[in-house]
Amino acid sequence: MQGVFITIEGVEGSGKSTQLLHLSERLRRLGLPLVVTKEPGGTALGREIRRLLLERHGSGETWCAEAELLLFYADRAQHLETVIRPALAEGKVVLVDRFEDSTRAYQGASGVAESSLDRLSELVLRGLRPHLTIMLDMDPETSLQRVEVRNLSLGAEFAETRFDEAELDFHRRVRNRFLAIAQNHPNRVALIPARDPVDQVEAAIWLRVAPLLRNAGFGVD
Ligand code: TYD
Repeated sequence: MQGVFITIEGVEGSGKSTQLLHLSERLRRLGLPLVVTKEPGGTALGREIRRLLLERHGSGETWCAEAELLLFYADRAQHLETVIRPALAEGKVVLVDRFEDSTRAYQGASGVAESSLDRLSELVLRGLRPHLTIMLDMDPETSLQRVEVRNLSLGAEFAETRFDEAELDFHRRVRNRFLAIAQNHPNRVALIPARDPVDQVEAAIWLRVAPLLRNAGFGVD
């Protein structure tokens, strides 16, 4: 049996981590063969790349857009080769926190040309697409406010506790790109309003996941 490939996407603060946790616990309780993983950082080497991408460098230097793009794809290539493709070949359910659509949304919003994204995607994905993408949608004003509150309560040293107008504008572009992806791939992408109560969002996700698993031959109610 071929596995089932599910990705979960959304802007920061959209409740992605909570929903991913609830969904993976549910699938585990059902006894499904499950791999839960994330990008960037789904492999040991990928975690090194994640650190390079997300931690501020002591020198103050930041990645130019193309270098950043290549690092995200290097992480993805390793992840696909060593985790995702093998698990799918073994017939497992693979649940990934962020994937290709994040690159399209975030790096696209940073100004990377669509043609560059297409070429790298062809090289790294070689036609592999998720069977289902859960896309949690929320306006960035609300989602970033949630992130600010969370970072303040964590006392995070480097995390942002106040997003300025330019960042808000960037996240608006990211959201619009996610929405365009959902519109262009209606069969693959389930666009789910994420401002609803957690239980309601969870139920909406399950409505899309359960039939997919049933069709793939897994016994779920
Ligand atoms: P992470 O801490 O995993 O954030 P979140 O909890 O929001 O998923 O950080 C991942 C960050 O990397 C997030 O800001 C989105 C960004 N990202 C890209 O810009 N491009 C990509 O291809 C991926 C996978 C993530």
